[in-house]
Amino acid sequence: MVFGTFPVLKTDEFILRELTDDDIFALSSIWASPLITEKLTTGPLSHDQSVQMLYVLRSLWDNDAGIRWGIEMAGRLIGTCGFNNINRSAKRAELGYELDVAFWGHGYMRRALMPVLDYGFNIMRLQRAETFISQDDERSAILLTRLGFVMEGVLRDHSPTPKGFIDEKCFSLIKSDWQAKN
Ligand SMILES: CC(C)(COP(=O)(O)OP(=O)(O)OC[C@H]1O[C@@H](n2cnc3c(N)ncnc32)[C@H](O)[C@@H]1OP(=O)(O)O)[C@@H](O)C(=O)NCCC(=O)NCCS
Repeated sequence: MVFGTFPVLKTDEFILRELTDDDIFALSSIWASPLITEKLTTGPLSHDQSVQMLYVLRSLWDNDAGIRWGIEMAGRLIGTCGFNNINRSAKRAELGYELDVAFWGHGYMRRALMPVLDYGFNIMRLQRAETFISQDDERSAILLTRLGFVMEGVLRDHSPTPKGFIDEKCFSLIKSDWQAKN
């Protein structure tokens, strides 16, 4: 892992930067959408729960436990993405992301995740990035496949949700596959 100043990543379209308290209104709107949160394990978040979630995501970097970037496009926060659940000895981490529903269908998340995966494999020196998605999360499955992730199988009763435990698909991307493709 890298310590110190939060790494800002820039592309032609996006600034991937540290989340701040000023992002709470954009984020609570994103996290209030059932279309977003039905794909996560939480259910829609209230404003207070969003404040708590923002704190958790910001704390990842401060506690050297992960990194979550805010995806800013033309001055507007359109989503977040990054790594958590880092296993340093195994050099693997879990990828997480969500995009404001108003911005779905343009390939924005695919393009935002490219510098993030570069950072994961080249700077964090990960060997493997993995993520777990609900069985009906078609958009995530397409996004991950486009990025080169492979579906490894279904993990039964993998995550608790407000509706009970759900099975999840496990997707992974390994360093050599990423480097061969990019
Ligand atoms: C997963 C999620 C980010 C996918 O959003 P998305 O906009 O479908 O994803 P992408 O950025 O890859 O865009 C793909 C879409 O853009 C279109 N597109 C346009 N230009 C494109 C380009 N240059 N490259 C790729 N796709 C492009 C694709 O055709 C596709 O549209 P379609 O769905 O109408 O076929 C979004 O559904 C989401 O936030 N879900 C909730 C969070 C979540 O599921 N998290 C998973 C657990 S961490």
